[in-house]
Amino acid sequence: MILAAGKGSRMKSAFSKVLHKIGGEAMVRRVLATATGLSNAQLHLVVGHQGEQVEQACQDFSANIVWQDNPQGTGDALRRAAPFLSENGTTLTLYGDVPLIQRSTLERMLSLSNNNTLVLLTIKLDNPFGYGRIVRNAKGAVSAIVEQKDASSEQLLINEVNTGILLAPNAKLQHWLKALTNNNAQGEYYLTDIIAMAAEQGVEIVTVHPEQESEVSGVNDRVQLATLERVWQLQQAEQLMRSGATLMDPQRIDIRGKLTTGQDCIIDVNCVFEGAVTLGENVQVGPNCVLKNCTVADNTAIKANTMIEDSQVGAHCDLGPFARLRPGSVLSNKAKIGNFVETKKAFIGEGSKVNHLSYVGDTHMGAGVNVGAGTITCNYDGVNKFQTIIGDGVFVGSNTSLVAPVEIKADATIAAGSTITKAVAEKQLAFARAKQTNKDGWARPTKQEK
Ligand code: UD1
Ligand code: MG
Repeated sequence: MILAAGKGSRMKSAFSKVLHKIGGEAMVRRVLATATGLSNAQLHLVVGHQGEQVEQACQDFSANIVWQDNPQGTGDALRRAAPFLSENGTTLTLYGDVPLIQRSTLERMLSLSNNNTLVLLTIKLDNPFGYGRIVRNAKGAVSAIVEQKDASSEQLLINEVNTGILLAPNAKLQHWLKALTNNNAQGEYYLTDIIAMAAEQGVEIVTVHPEQESEVSGVNDRVQLATLERVWQLQQAEQLMRSGATLMDPQRIDIRGKLTTGQDCIIDVNCVFEGAVTLGENVQVGPNCVLKNCTVADNTAIKANTMIEDSQVGAHCDLGPFARLRPGSVLSNKAKIGNFVETKKAFIGEGSKVNHLSYVGDTHMGAGVNVGAGTITCNYDGVNKFQTIIGDGVFVGSNTSLVAPVEIKADATIAAGSTITKAVAEKQLAFARAKQTNKDGWARPTKQEK
């Protein structure tokens, strides 16, 4: 059961709080992903404020959506969901705004569950302010949870707090939920009131603690969002380093999705990885690169300020600095894409080089091609896109326009400064520029004296 109906007013946002992202993924989606696959769990998602947005964003999880219009507390949320709960099951309650809860912690809770046990995830905090306090009897057994606003001055000194995450057997939960009242400081139905009921009925209440505090940290405002973002990023960075990647500074990497690295990759500072990015072995990524949904094979060097999106890069390639691979770029092994070169829907054959200041789009380029500085494939007439085909071993002189559709066959040579509009056959030399005229003894114009 994932609660996500709260208003989140401190976010000051037009978007539901739980849709704000950590590591590129909406918080509630992270919780859904963590819960997915937990002992065949049926997921229930309680939505209310901006519920349509949340429902829409989580469609692919096929969770049962429970509407909680006019939310009246965590107990009220579970009451609305009660009709959907299986008779003999167990309900694990999670929060959509507590995104970093670990699967292993939940599994530890599940391993303790049975029909007569309530499992609570609690933690001791130096500053317990704001949380529900765990009240224990003389024998040390949990007897109740009191909310901050309802607690006596003595109870406020308790530093063991309720994280909100709990596991309860449905048969009993149904009775407890019916018995909830809103007779408290906030006029809400507190889910936490079921603890005292359970204790009175002799139900065993066991507590489990998370491995790290961040697992149970909630996000109420953008400052906390940023804090958890850093926690998550550092966790990813540590995982990468443990799996054999060198990060020049683990504080200065941002992974918004999933980054997989082969052995001995070196990633310099301020790189951003989005979506699914896979680097082979010994790939070097220079500073300030942005890589999104791409694969890069072994021994390729990506120099500073390079951007790659929806593309595949082969082995032993050399990219940048300041290269831009737009969607559909496929680089064969040993290709070179240099500074201020943009590629889009372009296949670049093995060992081919586009080293400086070029645009190569809608192009199929063979192997061993050399494209001179300032070459442009003119692929667009304002309405339609056209293909440029360049055969193996072609040499394109600098400052050439290749007006597509056009084909340059293998081993042809294009003279610098050409505007190519017609096919060039194998091994031909094509000149398509104005002839140079020289005049002898040319006298420059002079200024007229007045
Ligand atoms: C709750 C707990 C408190 C615990 C704290 C941990 C209760 C009564 N108190 O307090 O013991 O220490 O969490 O953070 O449970 N929500 C709904 N519907 C509602 C109300 C809340 O879906 O009607 C959702 C919110 O979106 C949020 C979560 O439940 O994700 C917790 O609600 P919140 O109002 O933050 O509860 P707290 O007062 O913090
Ligand atoms: Mg809260």
